[in-house]
Formats: sequence, C-alpha cells, structure tokens
Amino acid sequence: MHSFGRHRHNSTDKASAKGTKGLILNLGWRYDLTAWFFDTFVFRGKWRELRQKTADLAGIQVGETVLDVGCGTGTLAIEVQQRVGLTGRVYGVDPGTEQIARARSKVARRNVPIDFQIGVIEQLPFPDQTFDVVLSTLMMHHLPDSLKRQGLAEIARVLKVGGRLVIADFKPKRERHGQAARFHAGGSSMQELAALVKEAGFSQVETEEMQLSRFSAFPGAGFVRAHKS
Ligand SMILES: C[S@@+](CC[C@H](N)C(=O)[O-])C[C@H]1O[C@@H](n2cnc3c(N)ncnc32)[C@H](O)[C@@H]1O
Repeated sequence: MHSFGRHRHNSTDKASAKGTKGLILNLGWRYDLTAWFFDTFVFRGKWRELRQKTADLAGIQVGETVLDVGCGTGTLAIEVQQRVGLTGRVYGVDPGTEQIARARSKVARRNVPIDFQIGVIEQLPFPDQTFDVVLSTLMMHHLPDSLKRQGLAEIARVLKVGGRLVIADFKPKRERHGQAARFHAGGSSMQELAALVKEAGFSQVETEEMQLSRFSAFPGAGFVRAHKS
C-alpha cells in the first residue's frame, strides 16, 4: 500500500501533534462505544446519517484518493473505502494516538487497505495536490479560528486542482437546543465556516443544514462543500 507520509510519520510528527491547539481525543474503543450508544438511543441514527451525507455530498467515485482529516477511529474512512473500491486509496489523519490505534485495529480486522496516520490538520503529512477529495466530520468545532485557517490552507495545498472539500460539523452552541448542546463548547456557524473556506481560496462554496427530526436529540449540524479552483 502507498504511504505518502511514511517518511514523516515519526516522533517529530507525534510531537507536533501533541503541540496542536485542537482538542485531541484519545478515547479509542470508548469513542466508538459512546458514539454507538448516543447514535442508537439519543441521536436515533443522525450521526450515521451525517457521515453518509458527507460522503454523498463529496460525490466520491471509484478509484479516487480521499483524505479524512480528524478521522477519529476511522468509521467514515471505512465507509469511504467501500466507495472508492480497490483502485482507490483512503487516508486518515488524527493526533489522538488511541484514535489511530483503534482505527488501525478496525481495518486490520476487516482487511481493508486504509492508511491511518498520527498527524494534525495544520501540518498534513502529504505532498501538494495528492487528493481528489478531503473530508472532515465533527472536528472543526474543536479548533480555534486561527487553526481552522491554517488547516484549510493545508487542505487546499494537498487537494488536486478541481478537488472537493466537504466539512460536516455541529452548529455552534448558540444555535442549538437540548441536552446534547451542552457537550460542545461551540464552533462556527456554517456561514462563518463557509467564509473561512472562501478565504482559503476555494470556489463554489455551498452550505447545507442537516434536517432534524422530532424523535432525535441530535444537536443540529450542517455541511460546507467547496472546490479547489
Ligand atoms: C469529535 S471527534 C470526530 C472524529 C470523527 N471525524 C468522527 O466523525 O467520528 C474530533 C477529532 O478531531 C481530532 N483533532 C483534534 N485536533 C485536531 C487537529 N489539530 N488536527 C486533526 N484532528 C484533530 C480529535 O483528536 C478527534 O479525534
């Protein structure tokens, strides 16, 4: 399997990952267990729907090369691998060592070729113009705005010309209701995120709100889709 970043996947990268201003999660299997519990009994499938919709909005094709930034335990990357097939390539980056260990053990069990690396959005361990698609789910609200800017510039660097970016994130706390709203400090509205994406040089920037349902306590989320011109 190709590994663009293998030469940089070393103790220096782990050190820069530790130095990030993002909120690193290091929960491993406990992340998956919590996600399953919440999605089944509280969010009623909305979390899973958000991941599917992210991949749908990216219009992923067989044979494409895709990066999931802030991939956590790799659930979206595994979904995306099925869409790109064996001729495509999927990479995941996250600073959480336990998240990456869990992601690697999930793909080892399934025998799927996904390359998960410890890394940060502000210093992506890939050459310029590597990816057809970059995805990010539920990560942006963990980053201060200055880091979002740095990260979006890095995403623009590693995307091919014409490549697509899809970001899914919770709405900021001020726009949300209910129990689940308490668990996250905030983040940007989709319009604020879209403005940062435009500022990073992307074109055709569109936003979409997720449809909520009366029977789910999912706190509200949206998507930003854009192209690298
Ligand atoms: C709420 S989790 C979302 C994980 C996964 N994308 C999902 O949808 O389940 C946010 C993830 O962002 C990661 N993260 C935090 N700071 C980051 C950074 N600077 N660069 C990349 N990922 C970061 C955390 O370690 C965590 O795994």
